[in-house]
Amino acid sequence: MNVADSETVATILRNEGFEIAGDIESADLVLVNTCSVRENAENKIYSRLKAIRSYRGGNPSLKIGVIGCMAERVQQDLIDNHGVNLVAGPDSYRKFPELLQKIYLQETAINVELSTDETYAGICPTRLESNGISGFVTITRGCNNFCTYCIVPYTRGRERSRDPQDILQEARDLFHRGYKELTLLGQNVNSYLWKPGTNSPESQDHNIGNIGFHQLLSMVAREVPGMRIRFTTSHPKDMSDETLKTMAQHGNICKHIHLPMQSGSLDVLKRMNRKYTVEDYKDRVSAIRLILPDCGISTDIFCGFPGETENDHQETLSMMKWVRFDSAFMFKYSERPGTFAADKLPDDVPEEKKATRLQDIIGLQNILSVESNNADIGKIVEVLAEGLSKKSDKKLFGRTSQNKVVVFPKMVYSPGDLVKVKIIRCTSATLIGELVK
Ligand code: 5AD
Ligand code: SF4
Repeated sequence: MNVADSETVATILRNEGFEIAGDIESADLVLVNTCSVRENAENKIYSRLKAIRSYRGGNPSLKIGVIGCMAERVQQDLIDNHGVNLVAGPDSYRKFPELLQKIYLQETAINVELSTDETYAGICPTRLESNGISGFVTITRGCNNFCTYCIVPYTRGRERSRDPQDILQEARDLFHRGYKELTLLGQNVNSYLWKPGTNSPESQDHNIGNIGFHQLLSMVAREVPGMRIRFTTSHPKDMSDETLKTMAQHGNICKHIHLPMQSGSLDVLKRMNRKYTVEDYKDRVSAIRLILPDCGISTDIFCGFPGETENDHQETLSMMKWVRFDSAFMFKYSERPGTFAADKLPDDVPEEKKATRLQDIIGLQNILSVESNNADIGKIVEVLAEGLSKKSDKKLFGRTSQNKVVVFPKMVYSPGDLVKVKIIRCTSATLIGELVK
């Protein structure tokens, strides 16, 4: 999401006559796009800011800006205590022209107003540091779910969906630039809902003309049939059978779903305000397995949420085994000031417990990932080559439809090619293949 937002910011600044500097020494302004989801992410930014400030030695007029979620959460303190000139929250990027003027006149500027309707309509992202193969298209901004641990609804504001015509336009733009894959982005893509402006109460009442996520997905798949389509993130409570059926209908929609589970304990899920039960989650996984038998499933899990008992933790491990996730992002709970959990639920799982539980989760996921990868040995898969393998320039790496990374001999192929590969070996993170003659 932040990569996509930076690309929007780049367009806004380019329209103001700015150019992207090749390196920090030649920059007049450095913008740091930030994440507040865990304390770790914010700490990284504080050290990054310190490193950037040191360049003021060589260039005393260097301006530093913080944008994104931390701008929204930390606000004025970034200016007062971290040497920052400009603070702009996720809905303030159109205000850049005036904010920039202000920092050159008065040294500092801040805008952290959230909007209920800003979707950056009409601003086509400038593709930054992209591999030229895979690009992002934002479809929703913000989040209305208020999971009790999560800062996002406070930093990114209320959920809003972008005009499908804008989305299709960006998909075409990527296609014309030679991109081979796009990822539709949102905090909860499944709740995408576009209500066309209409004055007719009848059409409002009957939802006539409304476009939901599965409809948008099939519109995009048809608009750019030569591209692979991915999407993230899905909320289990909103993952509909229609979406699964749409995925089954279109060969160019990748068979991979990132479905954050967070916890396998009903009690914990309740306190997290996730709005689904363990049974609901299992029902969605069963629907995926039924409608899309070859679909990859990945997840987010974190341990140590307030009140999590040893039994809750065991339930998380057994759910992981039940689902057999192909891969997972795994974390420890990090209390975020201002959330419901920070206010009302004491952060009572000791740090050492969080650490050992996380080790259990990572250890189990490693086993599950190896099992999942082993099951691919012997299969012939289609890989979109993305670049040279880190270990050898005679090999390429790319991803399967299921989002698994494959390394294979380069031979005549280049990044951007769709290559048929037979899987011969694997590690827990990578499939290793040979070319199919
Ligand atoms: N502590 C730990 N992990 C969190 N996530 C969100 N908020 C927190 C938090 N306060 C995780 C969730 C989410 C992912 C993006 O980050 O697993 O799905
Ligand atoms: Fe945060 Fe929950 Fe919204 Fe995801 S769905 S962004 S975890 S509040």
